[in-house]
Amino acid sequence: MATALITGSARGIGAAIALRLAKDGYNIALNDISEAMFEDNDIMDKIKAEGVECEKFICDVSSYAQVEETVKAVKARFGTIDVLVNNAGITRDGLMARMSEEQYDMVVAVNQKSVFNMSKFVGSVMMRQKSGKIINLASVAGLYGNPGQINYSATKAAIVGMTKTVAKELGSRGITCNAVAPGFIKTPMTDKLTDAQKQAMINQIAMKRYGEVDEIAGVVSFLASKDASYVTGQVIEISGGLMM
Ligand code: NAI
Repeated sequence: MATALITGSARGIGAAIALRLAKDGYNIALNDISEAMFEDNDIMDKIKAEGVECEKFICDVSSYAQVEETVKAVKARFGTIDVLVNNAGITRDGLMARMSEEQYDMVVAVNQKSVFNMSKFVGSVMMRQKSGKIINLASVAGLYGNPGQINYSATKAAIVGMTKTVAKELGSRGITCNAVAPGFIKTPMTDKLTDAQKQAMINQIAMKRYGEVDEIAGVVSFLASKDASYVTGQVIEISGGLMM
């Protein structure tokens, strides 16, 4: 059976993607930064209820060495890695004038370097398989910019470039690499915004509502499927018409 590895999948969009790919019939390798992230949720039980195998692999995706070990462990456990979803991400928002070096560097490490780490090591497994799908989580912040997010928008714009580069480097081996760019999705990450910030966002969205995590998972499922076999290097915006 094919296997999907989803980073940062204890909660939020990553958990929704993991559950959707389980429903699609993949064995699931979950990942998050600590065991504690899995304590208050039943994501593993929900995935196993779909009749697939599921295991969690704790690692900090910003660490090159930890990712190398984790990818080895996933390959040893499941035999193949057919889908990689680079989902783990953080925000450390602040206007540029007040942003610290630590705030900047941490977001780059977690959101951007992780994509290099994972794509390199999983990409090498996929090259030997001569097949694979890599799907990255970008963001509308990376496409259009967002005040207070110079660090975050830098990483999400970088992911667009990385997606196209990986698509070009690995395309001849039967591997596709695409990105989704969510707009404003209801998750613990966006719950942190003030009511005024939330309303300001909704005013700009054609559909006048936030997105649901399942609406991201559905597009990722498509990109992982045979129907998307000739789609690579693309960025699909999932924002309810935020910018047009
Ligand atoms: P979230 O904060 O609910 O979930 C992110 C998960 O990643 C958490 O479980 C967290 O523990 C994990 N994580 C953080 N650092 C990690 C590390 N170093 N190693 C391993 N795991 C780590 O966030 P959400 O909203 O589900 O976001 C998922 C992805 O979607 C992120 O890449 C985010 O930037 C992107 N996104 C989210 C949007 C939204 O509106 N929520 C909009 C656009 C993009």
